[in-house]
Amino acid sequence: MESKGAHVSESSTATGGQQAPELDTNVPQTARIWNYWLGGKDNFAVDRAVGDQIREAFPEIVEMARASRAFLARGVRYLAGEAGIRQFLDIGTGLPTANNTHQVAQSVAPESRIVYVDNDPIVLVHARALLTSSPQGVTAYVDADLRDPDTILQQAARTLDFAQPIAIMLMGILGHIADDDEAQSIVKRLLGAVPSGSYLTMNDGSDTSEEVVEAARIWNQSAKPPYHLRSPERIGRFFDGLELVEPGVVSPPRWRPEPGPSGLPAEIDSFCGVGRKP
Ligand SMILES: C[S@@+](CC[C@H](N)C(=O)[O-])C[C@H]1O[C@@H](n2cnc3c(N)ncnc32)[C@H](O)[C@@H]1O
Repeated sequence: MESKGAHVSESSTATGGQQAPELDTNVPQTARIWNYWLGGKDNFAVDRAVGDQIREAFPEIVEMARASRAFLARGVRYLAGEAGIRQFLDIGTGLPTANNTHQVAQSVAPESRIVYVDNDPIVLVHARALLTSSPQGVTAYVDADLRDPDTILQQAARTLDFAQPIAIMLMGILGHIADDDEAQSIVKRLLGAVPSGSYLTMNDGSDTSEEVVEAARIWNQSAKPPYHLRSPERIGRFFDGLELVEPGVVSPPRWRPEPGPSGLPAEIDSFCGVGRKP
């Protein structure tokens, strides 16, 4: 599915856009619970029930979701601005909300090309809201699993030029891959496919408070897919071999905050960073 300006075509979905995706409204799902915490309406009673249960154990979860999205916007603004990036591969997109990657990137550089990837059928259902590219740029959506980076790269190559730098975005998704070696090998495969001057931007939940550990326990009892918190050091290891952009791997509110009050806490239980492939 690709959009150049007003044009929308079914050219680059891994599903071929043929079959109606299967929506399971009985099992709480990560994209919909995240949408609920962000104040969205694309969620079901089961998602809200688990979302509320987690919020009871860990009230900061709502601010955590908002601070994570705020980092996404600042990170993309940095990449499209100072770093001069014009291509984005956003894997684990989530449901459309405010400040989606293409809106932020194209507000800086309208010619930016963005490929969104997610494996949740409900994100596919709502994907058209992500295909609202500026006339100068392109947005596309690929229905694929992070565990299958080869398919992602193959599908993304219909829209992105892999001879030019690309920002790979893994925001709130690597925690869904339990095994560090598997997660590392996926990141290496993706980074291996992009040229020097490309970037990795990531953000993931950290095991930095008892409350967040309890929240993850509740999540893993009821919601899909399971989420595994990592220590800040383990999160930092995803940037091995990259040049870390200042201030390094930090809690999202500390990553290049904009002047003035954000209304968000100074720290949340997650760690993020932006690294450049040398
Ligand atoms: C917590 S949400 C984050 C959404 C968005 N990136 C953000 O930062 O606001 C995680 C997203 O990753 C997607 N996801 C989880 N595991 C995935 C996988 N193995 N392959 C592709 N997408 C996945 C979920 O469907 C969900 O939309």
